[in-house]
Amino acid sequence: MTKMLKRALENILTIDEIKQLYGSFDIIGDIAVIKIPDALLDKKFIIAKAIMDNMKPVKTVLRQVTPVSGDYRTRELEHILGEDKTLTLYKEHSCIFKVDLAKAYFSPRLSTERIRIAKKVKSGETIVNMFTGIGSFSIVIAKHQPNSTVYSIDINPDAYDLMLENIKLNKVFDRVIPLLGDAKSIIQDSLRGIADRVLMPLPEKAIDYFDVALLALKPKGVIHYYTHVHASKDEDPIEKAVKEVEERLRLNYEILEARIVRDVGPRWHQLVLDLLVNRET
Ligand SMILES: C[S@@+](CC[C@H](N)C(=O)[O-])C[C@H]1O[C@@H](n2cnc3c(N)ncnc32)[C@H](O)[C@@H]1O
Repeated sequence: MTKMLKRALENILTIDEIKQLYGSFDIIGDIAVIKIPDALLDKKFIIAKAIMDNMKPVKTVLRQVTPVSGDYRTRELEHILGEDKTLTLYKEHSCIFKVDLAKAYFSPRLSTERIRIAKKVKSGETIVNMFTGIGSFSIVIAKHQPNSTVYSIDINPDAYDLMLENIKLNKVFDRVIPLLGDAKSIIQDSLRGIADRVLMPLPEKAIDYFDVALLALKPKGVIHYYTHVHASKDEDPIEKAVKEVEERLRLNYEILEARIVRDVGPRWHQLVLDLLVNRET
């Protein structure tokens, strides 16, 4: 909870109730998405009203009912207050995205990661984004490195349709190539050996698609590999992720960078490893 919101709820909820509220919530365009513990569900309107009263851009408050799940990585949302909608416009890094929070995955918490990747892309690169969603990584890359081509795959037809609209909104037609379908089939059929860089932003399944990423990669290229790692107090999540890859990748590779992207649960972290794979020798 932001300090402002805590203050707004100070005289309405008890100290205990405020403590039970989750630490943070997302604002995507003019929509706020909050998680509310079961014990406080009867206070959901009060909490939503405090958000709308204190955060002027917010026109809609939704409650996240389930975690993201399934192949499309979507979640169930409940409308609590304001306009009943899940569609909004979100801006970051000089890009604008049409987002439908009910139909396709999107997280503003990956904003720093998107620009980190975009800044690494060199002029003339070809990139394969295996799990593109509404186009966020691909479009940030294309805007920041105009001399690049990003083949952008997603299996969710709604995410693909939003990607098409976002390509238009950001005028990156010639640089972001939208592809609807399974990353494995599309790479096997038409994207073998073309990529200087492959993005794998599907932490739950990336390890199972490693061979496919290698198939898309040129003999020497970079894979941005995302994973979720659980680490106890005494464990280093980065070491654990590196070990996971070492066990799987019997190749000549170098880790260019390894970092925690964000925390996704108690002791659960999302990590990225930037791997320079070299099969030239
Ligand atoms: C965690 S989301 C990431 C989306 C996007 N990169 C982002 O950060 O906003 C993963 C995406 O992969 C897509 N997906 C899942 N399995 C896939 C597959 N086999 N081939 C292509 N896309 C897939 C889902 O539809 C979803 O949009």
